[in-house]
Amino acid sequence: MISWVSLLATADHLLPSSHPIWVSTASGSYPIWTGYHLLAEKSFLQPYLAGKQVFILSHPEIAAHYLSCLKQTCLAAGAEQIDELLIPSGDAHKVLSSVEQIWTAMLSRHHYRDTTIIALGGGMIGDLAGFAAACYMRGVAFIQYPTTLLAQIDAAVGGKTAINYPHGKNMIGAFHHPRLIISDLATLNTLPKREFIAGIAELIKYGVALDSDFFDWIKSHIDDILCFKPEAISFAVRKACQLKAEIISLDEKDQGPRVVLNFGHTVAHALEALLDYSALLHGEAVAIGMVVALHLSFLRGSIDKSMLDDIVNLLNSLKLPTKLPSTITTVEILTKIKHDKKHFRNQLRWVLLDTIGKASICEEITDQQITQALLMCGAKP
Ligand code: GLY
Repeated sequence: MISWVSLLATADHLLPSSHPIWVSTASGSYPIWTGYHLLAEKSFLQPYLAGKQVFILSHPEIAAHYLSCLKQTCLAAGAEQIDELLIPSGDAHKVLSSVEQIWTAMLSRHHYRDTTIIALGGGMIGDLAGFAAACYMRGVAFIQYPTTLLAQIDAAVGGKTAINYPHGKNMIGAFHHPRLIISDLATLNTLPKREFIAGIAELIKYGVALDSDFFDWIKSHIDDILCFKPEAISFAVRKACQLKAEIISLDEKDQGPRVVLNFGHTVAHALEALLDYSALLHGEAVAIGMVVALHLSFLRGSIDKSMLDDIVNLLNSLKLPTKLPSTITTVEILTKIKHDKKHFRNQLRWVLLDTIGKASICEEITDQQITQALLMCGAKP
């Protein structure tokens, strides 16, 4: 087996990457380009614009840094009409009224079926843009320019688009794949540190749930990641995208192996909803959710205490939250979890750990076991 160390030594992390990662699904294939300063590169974009119209969705903070560059690139790639809409950041804005705002703006500016919606931002912008694209005139082209670590390694990849609803996170949505993903790694340099670290939680998820060598690599390169060493960032983003692309090629619609990518997300989504999508970033909620899933795995005897500690210590070293807020009761979390999308035949499918690098789906988890794990993680009785 090739070790990550030798792979990294020979990895082509020249900028931009010399070849894309392909996501191949029954409904088509699309490339993910990663590298530095790709926002200004028209050649990647040109073949993927559906027509002459482009509608860019972004946040004010991201737009201040990158919108004019992306507009220049779109013009150079052949766009003749470029409109934009800026939505305030934060998952609290990932709601139907924001999508209505997008549709209204597009209709008022006469965007037709061959328009291309471009998401320039993090996972929240990608989800909104993708959902708007899935429904606008029964579906239009969509391109992702993810600007957060979390979106580059996870949210932008795989076609899940959604909005939050009073009943829970991502409750209304569609599978609508982008036709192209361009991850400009230079955009991570302007990302607030808290958001960058929250993205590392999802990176750790890939190692913990799918690939123990990658988990070890993250542990041994965490300082390189934290100081934005291009080789480490390039490798981490590409590796996560490769792992995700492999899973999606097996299971596009979350019916089988893809469910494992939701490791830590059952409790994370419940927490985000209980805290009105404001107190925790998604990656922070995933860090806590993973710790609860680890405790459940430990209670069921599938992992030992040293594995649990190994992962929790890494999360703690990054100052990611690993305890539930003490204001939230076990009953509140259990009630929220009843809405989780991973129910199948009326039973919730948990993603638990068999060992580091291997997660699997478990259906027979009792409320008593969940309560015990929640209490071990600091929930209010
Ligand atoms: N974020 C998990 C998935 O895309 O399936």
